[in-house]
Amino acid sequence: MRSYIIAGNWKMNKTVAESVALAEEIVAKTKGISKTEVVIAPTYLAAAKVADVVKGSNVKLAVQDIHWQDQGAYTGKVSIDMAKEIGVEYVIIGHSEQRQYFHETDETVNLKAKKVLSAGLKPIICIGETLDERNGGKLESVLTAQVKGAYKDISAEDALKTVIAYEPVWAIGTGVVATDDQAQEAQKYVRSLVAQLYGESVAEALRIQYGGSMNPTNASGLLAQKDIDGGLIGGAALKSDSFFSIISAAEEK
Ligand code: 13P
Repeated sequence: MRSYIIAGNWKMNKTVAESVALAEEIVAKTKGISKTEVVIAPTYLAAAKVADVVKGSNVKLAVQDIHWQDQGAYTGKVSIDMAKEIGVEYVIIGHSEQRQYFHETDETVNLKAKKVLSAGLKPIICIGETLDERNGGKLESVLTAQVKGAYKDISAEDALKTVIAYEPVWAIGTGVVATDDQAQEAQKYVRSLVAQLYGESVAEALRIQYGGSMNPTNASGLLAQKDIDGGLIGGAALKSDSFFSIISAAEEK
């Protein structure tokens, strides 16, 4: 059975002091969580201090992006070794905001995924269609290109260490959540793509999160879907109460 993974993507929110305080609250609230994997992704600036807070707890650390080069003249970027040194375990890559505002492509997602895996860390690979793409009947072709692009030249063994986050762009930060059926249908299709690439056993083991306006009210219905193995949460992850409600919804399944 796949275990649930609930991850909070804090995006460009929270100062270092606020990040430490939120991480402390989440660590305290999740002491009794045993089945659900809990991950938080603060900003780079806060990550090292948050790493100290989550050490030895049930909460794992992620960062929101990484560069695929080892080091050098890449102003503004952070390397995988820097993340690894402070105890980062997961790296979010290919987020739609990265794709939309910062020229992320399926090629750079692939380069980043390979870099993360080569360092022994785990990528959370974000995919998802825009409203125009969905309305234009392109849902499947968009997801196919994103999945096939992200996993190019990645072995089955490495693919098993990855998580996919299906985040329909129209649901992110809008309050318009995908219905349980819409999310399930898309995620079932994503799993079928993984099966095409790696076979049924990898597809059955690989975890696929849903992301986009997930909150304490809609989480339980989404998490009950067969192909939804967790959530990548933005707004509702910025308060420990709402984030913990979603974690509890997963833990109770
Ligand atoms: P919201 O939960 O704020 O819609 O954000 C989802 C998201 O983009 C997580 O990566």
